[in-house]
Amino acid sequence: MTDTDPTLVTLTHPRSPAAEAYRTLRTNVQFAGGEQAVRTMLITSAGPDDGKSAAAANLAIALAQADHSVILVDSDLRRPVQHRLFGLQSQPGLADMLAGAGPDAAPLQATAVPKLSLLASGPLPPNPAELLGSARMSAVLDTLREQADYIVIDSPPTVLVTDAAVLATQVDGVLLVLSLGKVKREMARKAKTLLENVSARILGVVVSNAPYDARDFRDYYAASG
Ligand SMILES: Nc1ncnc2c1ncn2[C@@H]1O[C@H](COP(=O)(O)OP(=O)(O)OP(=O)(O)O)[C@@H](O)[C@H]1O
Ligand SMILES: [Mg+2]
Repeated sequence: MTDTDPTLVTLTHPRSPAAEAYRTLRTNVQFAGGEQAVRTMLITSAGPDDGKSAAAANLAIALAQADHSVILVDSDLRRPVQHRLFGLQSQPGLADMLAGAGPDAAPLQATAVPKLSLLASGPLPPNPAELLGSARMSAVLDTLREQADYIVIDSPPTVLVTDAAVLATQVDGVLLVLSLGKVKREMARKAKTLLENVSARILGVVVSNAPYDARDFRDYYAASG
């Protein structure tokens, strides 16, 4: 990739502590669920700007780097960003499948990462929650499941709009991003309750915005080659 977005730390700084944390998350996802493997996962958070999209993109990359086929889906039909992170087009995408194009033909875009494709948002519809909760969305997920080992789904904030809760019922598991020092306890609790109310399976919490002193890691990671 010529101009890799710095948010994609798993590509730009593969030996950084952040990239290492995404590989740990990958391992946890790979072994989550016991007999019922987790193949479709939704990434969400309580509020805006918590780092959902960054977490979804980096987890998708980390899974692809382990030689799994991965489809990253931008189901944020309000503020989609995945196409920008990967230097691709916002259309065609998910909204096209949910509207006219039908659930069978996924307009996937290849990314600079081998084995990782993007299903972008497509054109922003007036009624995202209804589209994401429709039977067509389940059919879209069935189609995607046939085409990849893992489906990683980026979504809007859980507390502000119902889209993520609606999607949570259709996936194998949910990862909740908590931005340290930013998310309020009440908001985080509310997000958890909203997800539990729809019987979502919360796999775990991804902490973003965690401070660290890079000097603590530099020597060790340099030495690891
Ligand atoms: N690892 C990172 N490195 C640099 N910037 C980051 C990183 N993670 C997140 N950011 C920045 O933090 C901001 C919010 O991140 P992101 O877009 O992932 O949040 P979000 O929860 O998806 O937001 P929204 O609610 O709009 O969907 C962005 O400006 C992003 O570039
Ligand atoms: Mg986002």
